[in-house]
Amino acid sequence: MPCLAPTPSGKYKGGCIIAGLSIHAMNDTAPHYRRDLRARPAVRALVASQIREVANAGMGDPDILPFWFGEPDEVTPAYIRAAAVASLDAGETFYSPNFGIPELRDGIAGYVSRLHRPVAPGNIAVTASGMSALMLTVEALVGHGDRVVCVTPLWPNLTEIPKILGAEVVRQPLTFGSGGWTLDVEQLIAVLTPGTRAVMINSPNNPTGWTLDAASQRIILEHCRMHGIWIVADDVYERLCYTVDRCAPSFLDIAGPDDRVVSTNSFSKSWLMTGWRLGWIVAPPALMPDLGKLIEYNTSCSPVFVQRAGVVAIDDGEPTIAHTLQRYRRARSFLVEALGALPGVQAALPAGAMYVFFHIAGVGDSLAFCKQLVREARLGLAPGSAFGPEGDGFVRWCFAASERRLADGVGRLQSFLRR
Ligand SMILES: Cc1ncc(COP(=O)(O)O)c(C=O)c1O
Repeated sequence: MPCLAPTPSGKYKGGCIIAGLSIHAMNDTAPHYRRDLRARPAVRALVASQIREVANAGMGDPDILPFWFGEPDEVTPAYIRAAAVASLDAGETFYSPNFGIPELRDGIAGYVSRLHRPVAPGNIAVTASGMSALMLTVEALVGHGDRVVCVTPLWPNLTEIPKILGAEVVRQPLTFGSGGWTLDVEQLIAVLTPGTRAVMINSPNNPTGWTLDAASQRIILEHCRMHGIWIVADDVYERLCYTVDRCAPSFLDIAGPDDRVVSTNSFSKSWLMTGWRLGWIVAPPALMPDLGKLIEYNTSCSPVFVQRAGVVAIDDGEPTIAHTLQRYRRARSFLVEALGALPGVQAALPAGAMYVFFHIAGVGDSLAFCKQLVREARLGLAPGSAFGPEGDGFVRWCFAASERRLADGVGRLQSFLRR
């Protein structure tokens, strides 16, 4: 059928016949619902990713040095890849249970129990990415008109997910000073008013690296217990923490199994597995049956060969995490020092994650600035405004890269700023 091309007005051009009706005839008489081909208003109102907007201006151009995405520059270790290959060779190409293969649920439960508190495999849901873990959790907890508080600046996916479901998102900003990013816990408690459905906290935080301390966690948990507010803790960077030994403080350390606390996590960052799309949820027992239904109606399950790779990552991956942490620790110091030496740049050591979120004097519109950087300095950074209005004037630099590449990038920024 050569027709059915929608015109900008939403009408169809051409002259084919569908079920005996000429399209020409339909355009003139079609009721409004037939002509409006757009998504529903809540989806149309979502903010498109400004990180993508900058990256689209230069992706694929070999002259550009990209630090815009939160992705390591190293491939997934061979022993993890081999597990997926072996699974495929063994013909594991079928569906798995909604919650994941038993070996992976057991492995994750053991891992979480070693790091935090005892957790049973029955409280683990394997998901097709950390992103999917977040979406499923919010789908389970948040509905139209609910009030959700987010600590910001924040990876935009977290603030947009509740909006997809029709919730109202209230932002509670961190503040930036010479010591880095800090949270005024009293202010957060003040916005967690009775009736608030959930608070979303990503610690260590993307983009700032801010990491919530255990004492503040206790205050927030007590308050949320009192008012029946769910805590959605995005823990994907918990192993990338430079101020503590093994793991950033987590609500899982202090919450009981029946607290309204859900932790979401991912294989992407700790085990260098961004492209695999594998994550998990730790949730109270009462939530699990409904999460199972949501998994069925979203992805149904994660691919088995990817889950097999996850089992090996969890069981044998501690040296990989130690290696990554050591690399990133050096990269973090190097980048903060190098950026701090540039005139007008204010950069503080982030406590966790893999980003320096720094301020450049005179940069108002960080999106326009980052686009200009791509065009004129061949340098790819993420605009602070991508993480909310609190981020304007700031730029995010992912330091999961070699010192040589980081130094090259700083050189390009320096030459650009001199001009
Ligand atoms: C804060 C935060 N949460 C969750 C994710 C999701 O990770 P993935 O979907 O790759 O598992 C990311 C990825 O960048 C992130 O930065």
